[in-house]
Amino acid sequence: MGHRVPHVTHYLTEHFADPGYTTLSGYRAQGGYETARRVLAEQSPEEVIGTLKNAGLKGRGGAGFDAGLKWSFMPRDQAGPSYLVCNADESEPGSFKDRVLMERGPHQLLEGILIPAFATGAATTFLYIRGEYAEPARILQRAIDEATAGGVLGSNVLGTGFAHQVVLVRGAGAYICGEETGLLESLEGKKGQPRRKPPYPAECGAFGRPTTVNNVETFCHVPHVFARGVDWFRSIGTEESPGTTLFGVSGHVERPGLYELPLGTRLDEIIFEHAGGVPGGRKLKAAIPGGVSMPLLPAGHLDVPMANEFLREHGSSLGTGGVIVMDETTCMVRVGCVISEFFRDESCGQCTQCREGTGWLHKLMLRIERGGGTEADLDVLEDVAGKMEGQTICAFADAAAWPVQALLRHFRSEFLEHVRAEKCPFPESFEL
Ligand SMILES: Cc1cc2nc3c(=O)[nH]c(=O)nc-3n(C[C@H](O)[C@H](O)[C@H](O)COP(=O)(O)O)c2cc1C
Ligand code: SF4
Repeated sequence: MGHRVPHVTHYLTEHFADPGYTTLSGYRAQGGYETARRVLAEQSPEEVIGTLKNAGLKGRGGAGFDAGLKWSFMPRDQAGPSYLVCNADESEPGSFKDRVLMERGPHQLLEGILIPAFATGAATTFLYIRGEYAEPARILQRAIDEATAGGVLGSNVLGTGFAHQVVLVRGAGAYICGEETGLLESLEGKKGQPRRKPPYPAECGAFGRPTTVNNVETFCHVPHVFARGVDWFRSIGTEESPGTTLFGVSGHVERPGLYELPLGTRLDEIIFEHAGGVPGGRKLKAAIPGGVSMPLLPAGHLDVPMANEFLREHGSSLGTGGVIVMDETTCMVRVGCVISEFFRDESCGQCTQCREGTGWLHKLMLRIERGGGTEADLDVLEDVAGKMEGQTICAFADAAAWPVQALLRHFRSEFLEHVRAEKCPFPESFEL
């Protein structure tokens, strides 16, 4: 398994500086919708799925599941409708890539939807967007309206005879509605509580029909794969994780922002070369590679290529590519307080391990931070986190446990310092 990172650095964001790119005419001026038209007119659904499988595009919503394989799970012999869902919930703290993709390239997303819609035989795509994303929702609705009026969506997509509509649905701001079955419940007008699996959405998804759920960014890669071919796509990134991705860098860096880079770019390169390093000459202490659910890595482990097959060896994962950087003033127990408070507030409450466990993690973190913790509390933290993993209806409980386990793995001595000093030894750290 080789690791090669050639110099193609961006294609998703190539035209994002051009404000006209958000309009139908501006998108078409760059060759937009030509790929979808060609694919729909010339290829069979099976060929399309085969191409995407060969390309090896991995989902960019957090779990990294192979997109072509997921499309192949959709039954093609059933009467009645099947659906595609675009997951635009983007609630993971540290992640803001989907917002930019929707604001700057709404038609790129719609073109990326049309190809799998055709391949999976879906007549409708529900584009489920988080409630707080008012501006992206407005931009997307305008793009959908323009595309419908222009014959790109509707009863005869791009003159190919394929019929497809895109329906924008706004959520009400709950993290758990990003989990695909919580999303489906919310889409159906119910409380956003994840479903037990199986059945998986390809068998029984939205309104009881076969459904495929993909992330915004996953869709956006699709037209590029078909425009330039599998070999081109696989020449970027790593063997197991081809293509670029959008790294959203925040926290203690000179130039926070969104960077489109090949998968496999080293984390320290992203932080120091692209994001300009830590301000004020301070030292870097730790970084979260992919949004708060992903285990953090201490300085000294940051020369890791940013792709799941490498991050796994360091006990972490790419998640949503939201890199959060922390300098030497940062109190790691406060980091634990902030993260565990988020998960406590966002648990949907169906599973005891999650509902109670997230509350306990937060309570213990806060007690240690305020100087009232004991050494035994560290063991309880570890015990509670361990019992939350792999036990629940959805992966939220795992996502709540992992950051705590990583904090204890890498910064146990700092937790002990709090216990022994009976106060926080980091007065310069951010305030709770
Ligand atoms: C708690 C939780 C929150 C999630 N939030 C999101 C989200 O905001 N956006 C997203 O695309 N996927 C999210 N996911 C992953 C989805 O369940 C699903 O795997 C993803 O939308 C599939 O898209 P992909 O295969 O293109 O990555 C979340 C998963 C969990 C467990
Ligand atoms: S793990 Fe948590 S968020 Fe997921 S279903 Fe259970 S209680 Fe709800």
